[in-house]
Amino acid sequence: MANNLIYICEQCGNEQTKWSGKCPACGAWNSLSEMKFNKAKGSKRVKLEEASLKKLDSIKEMPMLRIQTGISEFDRVMGGEKNKGIVLGSVTLISGEPGIGKSTLILQVLSSLSKRGLKCLYLSGEESEQQIKLRADRLGGETGNIFLLTETDVLLIDKVLAKEKIDLIVIDSIQTVENSNFENSAGSITQIKESASHLIKIAKTNNMPVFIVGHITKEGSIAGPKILEHLVDTVLYFEGERFHAFRILRTTKNRFGAVSEIGIFEMTDKGLLEIKNPSEVFLSKGSPQIGSAVTVVMEGTRPMLAEIQTLITKTNFGYPKRTAGGYDLNRLQILIAVLSRNLRIPLGTLDVYLNIVGGLKAKEPAMDLAVCLSIISSYRKAKPKEGMVVFGEVGLLGEIRKVSRSQERLKEIEKLGFKRCVVPVGVDYKSDTMEIIRVSNLEEFERKALDK
Ligand code: TYD
Ligand code: MG
Repeated sequence: MANNLIYICEQCGNEQTKWSGKCPACGAWNSLSEMKFNKAKGSKRVKLEEASLKKLDSIKEMPMLRIQTGISEFDRVMGGEKNKGIVLGSVTLISGEPGIGKSTLILQVLSSLSKRGLKCLYLSGEESEQQIKLRADRLGGETGNIFLLTETDVLLIDKVLAKEKIDLIVIDSIQTVENSNFENSAGSITQIKESASHLIKIAKTNNMPVFIVGHITKEGSIAGPKILEHLVDTVLYFEGERFHAFRILRTTKNRFGAVSEIGIFEMTDKGLLEIKNPSEVFLSKGSPQIGSAVTVVMEGTRPMLAEIQTLITKTNFGYPKRTAGGYDLNRLQILIAVLSRNLRIPLGTLDVYLNIVGGLKAKEPAMDLAVCLSIISSYRKAKPKEGMVVFGEVGLLGEIRKVSRSQERLKEIEKLGFKRCVVPVGVDYKSDTMEIIRVSNLEEFERKALDK
């Protein structure tokens, strides 16, 4: 490497010494960018005696310290047993599409921490001081302990820490900051990696939590956050439909807690509100309608009720149309085939439009029964029974199978006051207030679930 140059793929982060039009690792075109290669700092040989070799047994267990933000939907997502919250010294990436509400969420978290007397440093390269102030005023929280930094060099943080006692740092966003030891411009893959490494070092040496905000595009295709995912301890995705007010904060990686845990919020004109009873939010009120079915999905460790609606119409042109809003289209097609075969519903000449109410996205085998019920109900023009929830997996032969965590699902359904629940045979549950209907195949299911 005579000229100290290497080429790094903006898509996957692969490094190589020669430029080429196509990245050999991920196959992306025109994605390699040039980067100065820093010479290793004189590789001195380290003797084994100097290295601190330890027996795993001899390492003392330290209690994991967490800070609570007081926003319980947020704390839940950060993980933990009894005391859920942010682990000291942990680095968390919050990613999501631009405009989904990451900065709003972060500012609310900071404000909540500020109220608890924790000093927070908010480094923003995205917005001016004025803009942040305006947002803070709009959110109306406490901001006395929030320190702003609108310079974008992460090395400045060291200087701030030397002067001021800080408890938590937020970087908004990683695409706009830089590490001035490197020449590349902000947002380039090198800067993203090097700034992040510096931030991780700060977190670990000061035992201080650091949050990094990162944008992704609709396809999730910007490399930044993808590469960051390997470096950080926890990855949160903030997602939702732009035109729906609901936002879901989801963990996809967590070194300190369960993954696929979710927190649910609603975006209002006063910022994000926590939704503590999601089951009620995602259901339409009133008696059951033709073509609708209620089921219970597990999001992380949390059961949540969801409503599925289907509309069936005659196909006008040769090829029948299927759409699945918030659901897996492939799974829908399989279930359509299963229904056509087992219940002799001729869906081959009918369009099927399916949607999950409220902008919720879910795919889980447990939803199969509800998808089938909404289709059957729409085709037969018959309502499902009053106050009923269904869950269970449907096999290719039309048999109905048990799913995981039935007890937790049933508890949630019972808690919400439903009258009956259709479940696969073999599910063991007793209820004084709810009728449990066990079914083993689709024919039996149709007979027992429809209000005929
Ligand atoms: P923002 O947090 O700036 O998104 P991100 O940081 O992910 O890019 O949120 C942007 C959207 O949220 C913007 O369209 C306005 C809306 N919003 C509200 O609806 N209510 C509010 O109180 C605030 C602060 C923002
Ligand atoms: Mg923002």
